[in-house]
Amino acid sequence: MIRRHYKIIIAAAIMFSFFGFQVNKKSGSEMEVVKILSIDQRVDSLMQKMTLDEKVGQMNLYNGFWDVTGPTPEAGSAKLKYEHLRKGWVGAMLSVRGTRNVKEVQRIAVEETRLGIPLLIGFDVIHGYKTLSPIPLAESASWDLQAIENSARVAATEASAAGINWTFAPMVDISRDPRWGRVMEGGGEDPYLGSKIASARVQGFQGDDLADKNSIAACAKHFAAYGFSESGKEYNSVDIGTSTLYNTVLPPFKAAADSGVKTFMNSFNELNGIPVTGSEFLQRDILKEAWNFEGFVVSDWASINELIFWGHAKDKRQAAIIASRAGSDLDMEGYVYVRELVKLVEDGIVKESIVDDAVRRILKVKFELGLFDDPYKYCDPANEKEVIGNAKHHEAVLDVAKKSIVLLKNEGNLLPLKKEGQKIALIGPLAADKNSPLGSWRIASDDNTAVSVLEGMEKYTSNSLTHKKGVDLVLGHTAFIEEVVINTTNRNGIDEAVETAKTADVVVMVLGEHGFQSGEGRSRTSLDLPGLQQELLEAVYAVNKNIVLVLNNGRPLAIEWAAKHIPAIVEGWQLGTQSGNAIAQVLYGDYNPSGKLPMTFPRNVGQIPIYYNHKSTGRPENTNDNVFWSHYIDVENTPLYPFGHGLSYTTFDYKNFKIHGKDFTVGDAIKVTVDVTNTGNYDGKEVVQLYIRDLFGSITRPVKELKGFELVHFKKGETKTIEFTLTNKELGFFNNQGKYIVEAGDFEVFVGGSSNTVLKDAFTLK
Ligand code: NOJ
Repeated sequence: MIRRHYKIIIAAAIMFSFFGFQVNKKSGSEMEVVKILSIDQRVDSLMQKMTLDEKVGQMNLYNGFWDVTGPTPEAGSAKLKYEHLRKGWVGAMLSVRGTRNVKEVQRIAVEETRLGIPLLIGFDVIHGYKTLSPIPLAESASWDLQAIENSARVAATEASAAGINWTFAPMVDISRDPRWGRVMEGGGEDPYLGSKIASARVQGFQGDDLADKNSIAACAKHFAAYGFSESGKEYNSVDIGTSTLYNTVLPPFKAAADSGVKTFMNSFNELNGIPVTGSEFLQRDILKEAWNFEGFVVSDWASINELIFWGHAKDKRQAAIIASRAGSDLDMEGYVYVRELVKLVEDGIVKESIVDDAVRRILKVKFELGLFDDPYKYCDPANEKEVIGNAKHHEAVLDVAKKSIVLLKNEGNLLPLKKEGQKIALIGPLAADKNSPLGSWRIASDDNTAVSVLEGMEKYTSNSLTHKKGVDLVLGHTAFIEEVVINTTNRNGIDEAVETAKTADVVVMVLGEHGFQSGEGRSRTSLDLPGLQQELLEAVYAVNKNIVLVLNNGRPLAIEWAAKHIPAIVEGWQLGTQSGNAIAQVLYGDYNPSGKLPMTFPRNVGQIPIYYNHKSTGRPENTNDNVFWSHYIDVENTPLYPFGHGLSYTTFDYKNFKIHGKDFTVGDAIKVTVDVTNTGNYDGKEVVQLYIRDLFGSITRPVKELKGFELVHFKKGETKTIEFTLTNKELGFFNNQGKYIVEAGDFEVFVGGSSNTVLKDAFTLK
């Protein structure tokens, strides 16, 4: 009976595909099945018509003609690219943007090639297209999954209106090393939070239906372990154990796959001696087999070619063999597949089935995007004009920007600022900066379009506001506009800033990193405030201690002096287009901050990697009052600000923490409740966090692991009971064979407003 039913569905699917019908979206599983089969059938029927040249062409991704996001390729002339486009040797392009430009390349693919297969048009839509949200690390500090999804939706809506149908986001690399410039692009250090954020972003980009005009295919990157680059140095080796790989690195990728992400990008690093672009273990065994991922894997920029520089392939030919066999389906700007793959198949060295598998995956995404039904669906200039930069998007990015701000310290309730009668000195090189708050990765947005802190604060007109830069953060740029030259010599503005600060009621200082000091290719060995900013801060402090320090930065910084001396510190990241408005609204209390750090702030760079979910070690404490325990002799073990930390203008009290039961068996659902009360003077939000510790394991377990959180709004004086459930999903871990297991034993459970929480209870799992 089931068989017969199945056959009818297949017959219907063949009929639909034969006549090229688009099956309408219908609820109900049968029509869904027909729709899926219909796409598969359409892919098959197209592939039967394709020559080997045309198939390999689909595996070739060329960069466009203006924006370059990697080393300039040796072979990449525009002439050659157009030639290849016309021959049908290009399956996708990146960094072609704007409906007019996209339409032009799409027209060549559709109207001038033999089979008229449309192109995928990829772009690094990392935190927005033109209207920018906060950088992803900042947004992750909101712990607000709906806001994060909304932000990706805005990005997808604007990008799709500009002709783009595929984003190279989200970056879901977990990282514990803020020296690595790309931490700004990710969700921070924790796999649980990172997984939730990965899903929210995928959902935001891809929407409910990929065929919708404002949905674009997402890309989980960089598969895998790029965030563990040794010493935080960009493009470096990675050497980690299986436990870290399975328990820390892979979960956000799995979450993205489970959320239906259509594509994965591999990465530049090697993992335990195998450059991951050539890793069959990652791309085939794990991703395509164990996880059953049906989309395709794009290489990172020329990473197939880089197998040669890693010393893993002796030439392009061998690089093509290794990468194609390993499951890298699409060659980004590497010129390897397009040159080598046809011959390798003809010579019987690479099986045609490998090419077929890759092409099938790529075509399927094109069908799912609806590109075969209307290749110009993203190319409507009227829509482009109306959608990009519209007021609704500005409101949306302002909303997420406010939610991303983290109040690190607020001694004596210096914040919020009084709205009247105050003399405020606004000091610092980033105070009036309209460019740095846009952060890294903002190719399609215009320079200097962020609202500065100065502009945001000027809207509060009942105070007097005087602005002085104090020092320049940068002196200029090198050949690339993104390469900034930090000012370490010009102190001309310090005296003037100090004079202004002397008579102010409050000094607001905006310090931090230039927008291009983080991001790809921007690792740092120091996490101090760059240039002369520390000197400026101390000079101002010497005359006025009432300082609110607003940080603008793309990574955790080491600000130990400030944390000790400055009464109020606000982590204002790089918050995108509406940055200054968001910061001003928080400073003046029109928005009560609720952000929590997604990444630990170290005391100094020597503590790195420092992260909350570390192991205990065999000597965790100084029990005998001697030196033989796990510590440094020059700085304490604790971080400056822990993961999950963030204050509010109100206060929260946690009481009646209860595990409902004490003895459980593996598989039980364990209920945990806690009463949280807003005990302060403002309405506010709190991220209630739940951590566990598995006390003994066949593989040692972290001292704490985040296993639940809820962002809850509380009115002044309000109490709410927050409930969590712990199941096998939260209580187990991957063993060194990559198998998920749950072990009986004793567990501790913690709840609170940061990973530092001490509120604890315990249970036993039998
Ligand atoms: C290299 C980066 O690693 C990757 O994340 C990005 O998507 C590509 N370049 C394309 O710009």
